[in-house]
Amino acid sequence: KIIILDFGSQTTQLIGRRVRELNMYCEIVPYNKFPYDATDVKGVILSGSPYSVYDTNAFKTDLSEIRGKYPVLGICYGAQYLAYTSGGNVESANSREYGRANLSYINSKDPLLEGIITGSQIWMSHGDTITKLPDTFKVIASTDDVQAAAYHVEGEQTWGVQFHPEVFHSTDGTKLLDNFLNICGCAKDWTPASFIESTVAELKEQLGDDKVILALSGGVDSSVTAVLLNKAIGKNLTCIFVDHGLLRKNEFENVMRDYEHLGLNVIGVNAKDKFYSKLAGVSDPEAKRKIIGKGFIDVFNEEARKLKDIKWLGQGTIYPDVIESLSITGTVIKSHHNVGGLPEDMHLKLVEPLRLLFKDEVRRVGMEMGMQAHLIKRHPFPGPGLGIRILGDITPEKVRILQDADAIYMNLMREWGLYDKIWQAGVILLPIQSVGVMGDERTYENTVALRAVTSTDAMTADWAQLPYEFLAKVSNEIINKVKGVNRVVYDISSKPPATIEWE
Ligand code: XMP
Repeated sequence: KIIILDFGSQTTQLIGRRVRELNMYCEIVPYNKFPYDATDVKGVILSGSPYSVYDTNAFKTDLSEIRGKYPVLGICYGAQYLAYTSGGNVESANSREYGRANLSYINSKDPLLEGIITGSQIWMSHGDTITKLPDTFKVIASTDDVQAAAYHVEGEQTWGVQFHPEVFHSTDGTKLLDNFLNICGCAKDWTPASFIESTVAELKEQLGDDKVILALSGGVDSSVTAVLLNKAIGKNLTCIFVDHGLLRKNEFENVMRDYEHLGLNVIGVNAKDKFYSKLAGVSDPEAKRKIIGKGFIDVFNEEARKLKDIKWLGQGTIYPDVIESLSITGTVIKSHHNVGGLPEDMHLKLVEPLRLLFKDEVRRVGMEMGMQAHLIKRHPFPGPGLGIRILGDITPEKVRILQDADAIYMNLMREWGLYDKIWQAGVILLPIQSVGVMGDERTYENTVALRAVTSTDAMTADWAQLPYEFLAKVSNEIINKVKGVNRVVYDISSKPPATIEWE
């Protein structure tokens, strides 16, 4: 595997995804947690960082047992840190070196740059720059403004690049990373099929004849987890799918059908009324989240207790959650994780077969196992569901209005071929009534907001520039068909500073 030492950059995960896309397994670990005992490390990548190497609180680690032992590639801060700790100078750049640039000089004999030609576009994003390289560090690529855009350390398998090969705008970035993997002698045989084969074998070994329980949500992660576990242990897996009454229109029935089609052993629980009565009169978003989260656990427990001899709890945790929980800079803005633990007295152990996969890999694994495209390509949907898309308190009538409006929006989005181009979309029911006119009648009814964003990881998101004709059609249909709505607006805020959900 490749180890990516994380110095806190926003693009660290992207480095991981690029390496995986090249069919090489990698792990992202905090900058000071290098796995010295691992025997399968082929190479090391040092990430960027929000800090400057000379900041007093900059992340620093001893590389003496890494350099020379493995091939090393420093990216941005990683490159500056290597130079700085070997006696070079790093200073604040006069003008922040940010954005597109082109490599005006390339040493094409260097194996890191094989196949990359002069003029190649790269993406810079740093406030500092290397002003003097140590003697053994040789420049292998420059731009007009940055002499040491890339360097190689003489007599060592160590390289540094001050630009970001992992971002899309570095046109030959993937090629550069691939060259690095070749230098490391990587086999590049990490594929969805190989993952499934080895994971199913490991699960069989780990679980034996034990029984496993899993909460399904209709989402991609829990569904793929279920199919993978089902492949390994079959009927020893019991899935529970709770209808909290805040799902999309007909979602519960449709998804149940999909699950049964996949051969899963699923118990569907209709707990709508329980949730509606607990939520009555509650408007605060975090309070609603807590009630829904707790209600979910209660229903799940009640079902779990009816089953005999359960030893394991399956969960659809994926790699970004794992990285976030290890993160050195992470801050929690909203309390997202709803599926909390089961009571201690059940003594369940956790099994999380997707915990090392990125979202796109989860999808590829699902496809490879023959899951339906509409299950795999489904937009993310929050655990508390429509509960956080009804601003203010929740009533069954408001749920009905929102479900109807949302169904029109989503169906049209599919019909117009827009669904797969969007990261996530939905309708929000606002706590606002406004005046309208229908026929000769004055109306005083609800407003809904349409939301659609593009994103790669939900950390940042842009509002989607949907065609006006499409928006016109959606607005017309909603106002004409959904009783209780007389006004539709479109949300044109990006994240940050807005968030994807309104609550
Ligand atoms: P925000 O609104 O923070 O959302 O930009 C980022 C992503 O997280 C989802 N989200 C949630 N998911 N429980 C969840 O399981 C929650 O309470 C929750 N709140 C937001 C949101 O839909 C988006 O995909």
